[in-house]
Amino acid sequence: MLELKVDLNERSYPIFIGEHLLSDKGRLKQYVGQSRPVIVTNTTIAPLYLDSLLAIFDAQKPLHFVIPDGEQYKSLEWFEKISAFLLEHNCGRDTCLIALGGGVVGDLTGFVAACYQRGVPFIQIPTTLLSQVDSSVGGKTAVNHPLGKNMIGAFYQPKAVFIDTKTLSTLPAREFAAGMAEVIKYALIYDASFLDTLTEQHPQLSALDAESLQQVIYKCCAIKAEIVAKDETEAGLRALLNLGHTFGHAIEAQMGYGNWLHGEAVAAGMMIAANLAYQRGALSAADVEKIRRVIALYQLPTEAPSEMTAAQFLQHMRKDKKNKQGKIRFILPTQLGQCALVDDVSDETVVTLIGR
Ligand code: NAD
Ligand code: GLY
Repeated sequence: MLELKVDLNERSYPIFIGEHLLSDKGRLKQYVGQSRPVIVTNTTIAPLYLDSLLAIFDAQKPLHFVIPDGEQYKSLEWFEKISAFLLEHNCGRDTCLIALGGGVVGDLTGFVAACYQRGVPFIQIPTTLLSQVDSSVGGKTAVNHPLGKNMIGAFYQPKAVFIDTKTLSTLPAREFAAGMAEVIKYALIYDASFLDTLTEQHPQLSALDAESLQQVIYKCCAIKAEIVAKDETEAGLRALLNLGHTFGHAIEAQMGYGNWLHGEAVAAGMMIAANLAYQRGALSAADVEKIRRVIALYQLPTEAPSEMTAAQFLQHMRKDKKNKQGKIRFILPTQLGQCALVDDVSDETVVTLIGR
């Protein structure tokens, strides 16, 4: 088992990465404490992993709340339903919430934990690759609003993150690939040599080799932990984690959420950002080709949807949360393995880049 720490003074917490952590009774109990825990999960994950978790806390009479599966349930309506469930069961401030699932369950449960009785402890048990390398770490919690994704939320850190790589064995291949987009993102923002590792380790990672998965997940969590420790609330540095997301969010919104998975849209977004960096002289043609090859290797899209126009991109990107003083702000590579926030990309440049 591997272990690392997110260093946030009195709110620091460990990330455990291993196989069979879902049955690590002693460690889980240590972080949940003595009171009755409440596990939040969804209808897909519950039949797979809920029973083993319930068994661990048997003597504490754990409660569980199962939401339907889908991004649309990361909503104020389901926030309210979970809160009502906690109240109906007289859950107090010492109740520990356990998020068992992907980013949807994690973000929603985390936001309930942040708000219920002004904050109760919570633990993340992420079960998708995306949530294991990204959303379970760093304390961004949120629900969606009809007028925008992740628009209502809080920074609220978990007490611990338990990453059991065995859970990836039941994850659909397309979801695994979507998670790989976020893995590739870390290489592009922080460590060019990690891009080579991902190319070399492709056979092992695709076969879900435990050792390779744990090393790669560790690397991603270590990068994210370092960034979050320096800039918890995204005053600057943390925004780099949004590489590919400005174009990606526009693709997701235009194509309809769920038609393009978040990671697929981010992959295409990173390629567009790489092409833009090439135009600005920051990347060579060989760098761009190297990025394209890794993205394609993991069966991810390397181009924007053919039917999407520059005007549509611009319309969505004008609503991006990173924007300041009406300017769209992009994360762009400055060289392979490094990125920066820029706000001097003209609409004309975007039109030339997208080409329609
Ligand atoms: P998800 O939670 O919807 O999970 C994807 C699908 O996989 C779902 O159908 C789910 O039921 C299923 N699933 C999950 N684990 C499984 C397993 N082990 N076996 C079989 N099926 C499994 O999606 P996601 O990609 O994990 O997360 C996306 C969400 O995360 C979005 O809402 C996004 O906004 C959010 N997000 C948050 C952060 C953050 O920092 N908080 C970062 C990135 C993304
Ligand atoms: N996923 C981006 C962040 O946590 O900041």
